[in-house]
Amino acid sequence: MDTGTAYGRPAPAYRKELTEVSAGSPMGELLRRYWHPIGLVSTFTSKPLQLRILGEELVAFRDGQGKPGLVYPRCAHRGASLYYGRVEERGIRCCYHGWLYDVQGHCLEQPCEEGGGARRDNVRQPWYPLEERYGLVFAYLGPPQRKPVLPRYDCLEELAPGEFVEADDSSIGSGGPQLVPCNWLQHWENVVDPFHVPILHGSFSGAQFVAQMAAMPKVKFETTPRGVKVESLRPAEGGKTHRRVTEVVMPTLRVVPNPRVAKYGRVESIGWVLPIDDTSFRIYVAGRVTEKGELGKFRSRMAGKLWHELTPEEHQRHPGDYEAQTGQGAITFHSEERLATSDKGIALLRRFLEQQLKIVADGGDPACVAYTQESAYVRLEAGQELQ
Ligand code: FES
Ligand SMILES: [Fe+2]
Repeated sequence: MDTGTAYGRPAPAYRKELTEVSAGSPMGELLRRYWHPIGLVSTFTSKPLQLRILGEELVAFRDGQGKPGLVYPRCAHRGASLYYGRVEERGIRCCYHGWLYDVQGHCLEQPCEEGGGARRDNVRQPWYPLEERYGLVFAYLGPPQRKPVLPRYDCLEELAPGEFVEADDSSIGSGGPQLVPCNWLQHWENVVDPFHVPILHGSFSGAQFVAQMAAMPKVKFETTPRGVKVESLRPAEGGKTHRRVTEVVMPTLRVVPNPRVAKYGRVESIGWVLPIDDTSFRIYVAGRVTEKGELGKFRSRMAGKLWHELTPEEHQRHPGDYEAQTGQGAITFHSEERLATSDKGIALLRRFLEQQLKIVADGGDPACVAYTQESAYVRLEAGQELQ
């Protein structure tokens, strides 16, 4: 009898505690203990912006004094959306009855009330703190008493002459729409999966990076105080070895040296995976460059074309990260996985996340949360060299 047919297979399931990001969910609370980039500095303007972050609907703007704001959309008066509000010198004014809120949600004016509102000080529009750095706006959506210092990263702080930091929000590395319609963890786990590189980006779709990266690497996986680190060794020219270290760092950092091996040395950029909700994410990148627009320059080509130029059939013939990860489904079914020895990075990362969930559940501070400038300075190991 032939067994193993698709008939009668168990109902699939995914691990909610690792994937779901709404407020009150275990991962949602873990992620809410960190700053996350939520936009380019340039997208915060006097035109209110509708954003979804970690499953929360929010409105972002920049007041006339240049201060960025992030507020709950429903006006504290009677719920009109501040998306239709007008941004002024001191904040955002609701279109319905004109209540004016500053970037911290203080109600400054109630024009329909006697004397501009004697009790307006009792009103607070729910808001979140923001900080700007590396060309990105970072938001903290967690408990105020646990707000950490916004970290600095050595690879974006220690610049060589002629280098500067620029930000990019175009898409995942190999191209695709800005909003990727699958769970954020599918993408983050991909960073500690070096074995997909010679297959997906090496042989299956043709060399998407450079020939050197198509070789099957010798790999060492390790948990670090910040996340998980992967060291890949590949043969290189002149009998040398190409040593490449990539890291995932809490909360959602992708610290990956340029896979086109344009330069050797320490990692050039950091990518953040921002969960929009449980079934979509987007990417923000900040990197050291010597030329404006350099970060967006290294897009993979499949059959000589950029991602958005491919026909549906070409996507099928030349899949990249977007196809592989969205192909796993909106949230991959962990119950149907068979982790093998080459998936050690994934296993270490999930274990690391489980430990961080437990720390938060027990009332502690998870990895990489720091409350002083000094301890919030992060030194990374990622980079690549010839040995
Ligand atoms: S609903 Fe916003 S001011 Fe009335
Ligand atoms: Fe990839």
